[in-house]
Amino acid sequence: MAEQHTQQEHNIPQHVAVIMDGNGRWAKRRSLQRMFGHRSGVEAVRAVVEAAAEQGVKFLTLYAFSTENWARPKIEVNALMSLLVDAIDKEEPTLNRNNIKFTTIGNILTLPQKVQDKLKGIIRSTEKNTGLTLVVALSYSGRWDITAAVRQMCRDTEAGKLRSADVNEALLASYLSTSGMPDPDLFIRTGGDLRVSNFLIWQIAYSELYFTPVLWPDFGKQHFAEAIKEFQKRERRFGRVTEE
Ligand code: IPE
Ligand code: IPE
Ligand code: MG
Repeated sequence: MAEQHTQQEHNIPQHVAVIMDGNGRWAKRRSLQRMFGHRSGVEAVRAVVEAAAEQGVKFLTLYAFSTENWARPKIEVNALMSLLVDAIDKEEPTLNRNNIKFTTIGNILTLPQKVQDKLKGIIRSTEKNTGLTLVVALSYSGRWDITAAVRQMCRDTEAGKLRSADVNEALLASYLSTSGMPDPDLFIRTGGDLRVSNFLIWQIAYSELYFTPVLWPDFGKQHFAEAIKEFQKRERRFGRVTEE
C-alpha cells in the first residue's frame, strides 16, 4: 500500500498542455476591458510555470495565441503582443534562475518583428537550461502544424530526400513543431468550454483531458495540483485491456 502510494505520487505527467481560456470573461465580470483579463492572466502563467517546475513536469505547453485569434479586434491583438513583450522582459531572469528553458511553437514569422526579436532573445538565453521546458504556442493551430509538416514532407520528396514508403506516424511527428517532445499526458482547458479549439490535435490523441470552469486569471498552483491529482486517478489503457 505504502509502495503504491509512493508510485502514485511519482506519476507526474511528463508533458502538460494548457488552453488558458477565460481572460475576457474574467474582465467582463469586473466590468473591465478584456485587456485587464489578459494582464491578470500573466500572473496565472507565473504561478502555473512555478507549480509545474516544482512538481517535476518536463514540458509545459501553453496556448497563448491561436491562428484564429488573429481575427480578434486589432486593439486586442496589439495589446496581447505588447503584453507578451513585457512578460518576456520581466520573466527572463526568473526563468534562468529556475533553470527553465523557453521555446515556442507556431507560425512565428507572422508575429510583429519586435515580438520575434524578443522571442529569439529569450530562447537563446535559456537554451542551455535543463529543468522544465516552457513551450509557448503563438500563432499556433493544430491544422497549421500538420499542414506545414505535410508541405515540408512534399518538399523533401521533391528534393529526393524522402520516399512515400518512408512515411509513417513517427516520421510525420518528426516534421511537426513538437518534434522531439513527448505527446501531452495531460491536457487542461480552463474557462468552462468543452472543446479543443485547434490546439495540439495530432499530439493529444491519447492525452487525458481535464476541463475546469475556473477562469484562467483565477487558476493557481492549487488548481494545477488538483488537475495532476485527477490525472493520477485516471487509468490510461491506450486501447488495451487492463491487466488482471
Ligand atoms: C484566452 O482568453 C486568451 C486568449 C485567447 C488570448 P479569452 O480572451 O479567450 O477569454 P474569453 O474566452 O473571451 O473569456
Ligand atoms: C483558445 O481559446 C486559444 C487560446 C487560449 C490561445 P479561444 O478563446 O480562442 O477559443 P474559442 O474561440 O473559445 O474556441
Ligand atoms: Mg476564449
